[in-house]
Amino acid sequence: MAILITGGCGYIGSHTCIEMIKAGYDIVVLDNYYNSKPEALNRTRELAGKDFPFYECDIRDAEGLRRIFKENKIEAVIHFAGLKAVGESVQIPLKYYDNNVNGTVVLCQVMAEMGCKRMIFSSSATVYGEKNPSPLTEDMEIGGCTNPYGRTKFMIEGILSDLCVSDPEWSVVLLRYFNPIGAHESGRIGEDPNGIPNNLMPYVSQVAIGKLARLSIFGDDYDTPDGTGVRDFIHVVDLARGHVKATDYALAHTGAEAVNLGTGTGYSVLDLVNAFKEANGVDVPYVIVDRRPGDLGAVYSDPSKAASLLGWKAEKGLEDMCRDSWRWQSQNPKGYAE
Ligand code: NAD
Ligand code: UFG
Repeated sequence: MAILITGGCGYIGSHTCIEMIKAGYDIVVLDNYYNSKPEALNRTRELAGKDFPFYECDIRDAEGLRRIFKENKIEAVIHFAGLKAVGESVQIPLKYYDNNVNGTVVLCQVMAEMGCKRMIFSSSATVYGEKNPSPLTEDMEIGGCTNPYGRTKFMIEGILSDLCVSDPEWSVVLLRYFNPIGAHESGRIGEDPNGIPNNLMPYVSQVAIGKLARLSIFGDDYDTPDGTGVRDFIHVVDLARGHVKATDYALAHTGAEAVNLGTGTGYSVLDLVNAFKEANGVDVPYVIVDRRPGDLGAVYSDPSKAASLLGWKAEKGLEDMCRDSWRWQSQNPKGYAE
């Protein structure tokens, strides 16, 4: 029996493939390379020390999915495949609803048809919306998302929960990620954003390597200790290990469970910049600019449900995250392009 990993060539997916294999799972990977490159797959195989089947396939292609299920015995799906750029989702919402929401519906239809009813889904802290105060707990009311990307995650959580109510054989774990950063400690795989990065850590790394002149820090007048935004940064390898635990759980239970994957500790943008400089002995020039529309002051998790339900806890600290992000960036200044 194997676990199908959709979007397995992407940033979080590639790290998860390695941790799943290390934990003894057989995996099958699917990706349409919309936001990833074949080189990521080569390096994932190299780091895992084991080959696994790969299908270049879109999650909206029901026939392609059927073939994967027919050619492999799939007992559960870890579902990463999706579009994730918040700003872009405001410009082209239909593309996001089609890819993320429709894609997940097609995937679930084929899974049900093939008798595979276990899924670990990549949700996001963004489903908590603007109103809930941190630390965020899974029992808070979700919704009130500020952009189409966030709404796709909110809608998919609802769809998967409805599915579990309609058919008690379904088992779904909704993993709400906080802010994944860092890279595999080998420096061989990591986050490879297209164009100018939107997210903090890839931007910081590209400033440190001289590709970008300086970081713009979006606001220093939030109600936080130093005025800059506070986030729950989590090492991508810790996050990947959370998927191993969630898979163990989904194979042994039914029903839907939402689980936060975060460290529970909030660090500010300035904390991260200073930790990065110190851990790596590099400079990161910055300038304070206006707040970015839609941003919140402090967002961090209460990770206790992940500990009690899944037996998972983040182990890596901010220094590891900064060191590993820099190793990836400095060893691969052009990402996977080289
Ligand atoms: P990523 O873009 O690196 O990986 C997603 C992968 O899915 C890519 O390889 C892409 O080619 C593939 N894909 C997209 N649409 C597809 C489709 N229709 N069919 C097949 N493959 C498709 O992103 P990531 O950072 O690894 O994120 C993985 C998941 O986690 C996404 O669903 C994302 O929304 C979610 N998430 C990410 C973050 C974050 O900060 N990185 C935070 C919260 C949630
Ligand atoms: N920031 C800057 N300058 C930058 C980029 C970011 O100051 O160039 C600040 C932001 O204002 C924020 C913090 O750094 O305070 C983190 O910003 P990111 O863009 O890295 O991450 P967000 O918390 O805004 O969003 C991330 C993902 C979303 C996801 C959300 C859920 O990008 O997909 O976490 O928590 F929905």
